[in-house]
Amino acid sequence: MDTATIFYILGGTLVALALVTSFLGLRSEKFPGSSRALGGMLAGAAIIVVATGFFAVLNGEEELEAFEAELAAEEEGGAEEPTTSIDGAEVFVGYGCGQCHSLSDAGTTAQVGPSLDDALQGKTVEFVRTAIIDPNDFVEPGFSADIMPADYEAELSPEELEALVAYLAEVGGADG
Ligand code: HEC
Repeated sequence: MDTATIFYILGGTLVALALVTSFLGLRSEKFPGSSRALGGMLAGAAIIVVATGFFAVLNGEEELEAFEAELAAEEEGGAEEPTTSIDGAEVFVGYGCGQCHSLSDAGTTAQVGPSLDDALQGKTVEFVRTAIIDPNDFVEPGFSADIMPADYEAELSPEELEALVAYLAEVGGADG
């Protein structure tokens, strides 16, 4: 039996008891007869009142817990959503990639580094990620090492990095 049911039973008993007592009180002048009987009745009523209150609180707590669990589940559901809030193009521009790279989708035209419209065609997603976090791993012919900052892995949050990689792979034509 759950606390809610117990609470309702106790509450119902209390109401019934109150009705019976007042009925008896109205019907019989002698009721409750002796001060002992009155004391017993009051004690009994007090116990039921306390028990009802106790289960009311318990029931309230259970409902609160259920509510909190629901809230937590909803929040988790929210966190599971893909990182749609991060826009790869914004990361590209925001972290200054466009100061060295041209990328038509982002509207940048700099020539310090390779044009990412051409350089990524047919490359893998893994290549794009490595090119960003470890630029000297592969140095594009015609360009020098140590020009592109090598600390983007520390600078970008993991979510920003993934959004940027996915964005560049898509608009740059990397296919695998
Ligand atoms: C200070 C200039 C500079 C900045 C800023 C810069 N890069 Fe570079 N990047 C270069 C140069 C120069 C190269 C070519 C040499 C090399 O491969 O390391 C390069 C290479 C790359 C490559 C590999 C291209 C190829 O042909 O293999 C990618 C991808 C890339 N950068 C992406 C980015 C992204 C994304 C950002 C911003 C988070 C960025 N770069 C910021 C200068 C820069």
